[in-house]
Amino acid sequence: MSDVLVLEGPSTLDGEIPIAGAKNAALPCMAAALLTPDPVELENVPPVQDVFTLRELLMDLGVDVQVAGDRWTLQAEQVTSTTVPPELTRRMRASFLTLGPLGVRFGSAEVVYPGGCAIGERPVDLHLAGLEALGFAVDQAAARVRIRARRLRGAVFEFAKVTVTGTEHLMMTAAAIPGTTVLRNCAREPEVVQLAELLRQMGADVEGAGTAQIIIRGTSSLRGTAVRVIPDRIEAGTYAVAAVLTRGRVVLRGARAEHLTALMEHLKGQGAFIEVTAEGVVVDARAVADFRPLRVVTEPYPGFPTDLQAQMMVLMTQALGVSEVVETIFPDRFNHVAELQRMGARIELAKPAARVYGPTPLRGTVVAASDLRASACLVLAGLIARGTTVVTNVYHLDRGYVRMEEKLRQAGVSIRRVNPDPRPSTMDLHG
Ligand code: UD1
Repeated sequence: MSDVLVLEGPSTLDGEIPIAGAKNAALPCMAAALLTPDPVELENVPPVQDVFTLRELLMDLGVDVQVAGDRWTLQAEQVTSTTVPPELTRRMRASFLTLGPLGVRFGSAEVVYPGGCAIGERPVDLHLAGLEALGFAVDQAAARVRIRARRLRGAVFEFAKVTVTGTEHLMMTAAAIPGTTVLRNCAREPEVVQLAELLRQMGADVEGAGTAQIIIRGTSSLRGTAVRVIPDRIEAGTYAVAAVLTRGRVVLRGARAEHLTALMEHLKGQGAFIEVTAEGVVVDARAVADFRPLRVVTEPYPGFPTDLQAQMMVLMTQALGVSEVVETIFPDRFNHVAELQRMGARIELAKPAARVYGPTPLRGTVVAASDLRASACLVLAGLIARGTTVVTNVYHLDRGYVRMEEKLRQAGVSIRRVNPDPRPSTMDLHG
């Protein structure tokens, strides 16, 4: 059985929380290490399960991965396989990012479809259309896809829909193809900008990352380099919501407010005081009176992130009036709703939207996490619920948050991890 988290509420956040490196920035950078036989050094790598899963996958392919604290060195000098291990790909969608880099460097590669997941269908058609445009033959069978380099060349490709990993996948593949590639309707997330920075340091010419059009002049001789992974804006955003929700105060050490504009606007709208200091971002909600109803529409960056939607819904349960979430990225991403209802929330679900009628007191009970961000939402609900909240299936949370219970405990929350199984917990295993 997986660990559970036990919270005694209600509590108030008060303290400092260090923000880890962004897993969604670390993962594409790790995949990009496949593009060169030289060492690629990543600093500030977060010790979360998704990152460990990709490490395992890369090591299975023959990549040497040296870990010294948060400094990881990856060297793809002796890649022994171009078939991505299926069970690891199924476990984590970002593994799909290894396909293009393997294909461009070794001529062919094979991977199983990552398939749907708890937050709904997640197709990869745009990744594949882009790889075809770059000159790969794409052979799709029932469960797997194989690419073969036919005549690789720079290309002009427009994404039919904004996709984060799709943009990253084509950007890194194009970086290793001599010629000019123009990608249009790109994702503008800070994680895309970080990858562009890495690729530039590796020797490609990448312009426009952070805008809708990215121009890449690739080279077949990418080299090793070192980068520092940017802070995790979703982790920071989760604790910012927690501080406001509990009318507390938190210093998010190392966070970058400019990556969280859409969220911060909502929190300021609630009367929270947000200050950017040399240390990070201070969120102070001690003077907040009643919460106002909110309307959140998830959108590609710089819009409101889908990865913070579930957490925001907890705040909505405490607002005076009717709030609304419209989920435009993953219309099925509402796994948290039933659990919040069991805690006392009044939510009407009509996908892709949900209406939240507040305020309703929440009460502690046993709730089951079903995906990464839904788990974070349930922990936040446990902060304001009366009594004991037990969040089960914590392995979802461990995929993306570094020791959440320790960080919350340091900020004054009564929370503990319990391992109902005598075997060592994930945290014990990975330090
Ligand atoms: C990334 C993030 C994830 C975040 C999501 C949206 C990583 C590792 N994960 O996921 O945390 O929730 O962005 O911000 O960075 N789509 C297609 N065809 C494709 C690809 C995507 O139709 O080939 C659709 C998806 O179904 C979805 C939308 O595009 O509706 C955006 O998804 P995408 O940005 O690709 O999400 P991920 O990159 O998988």
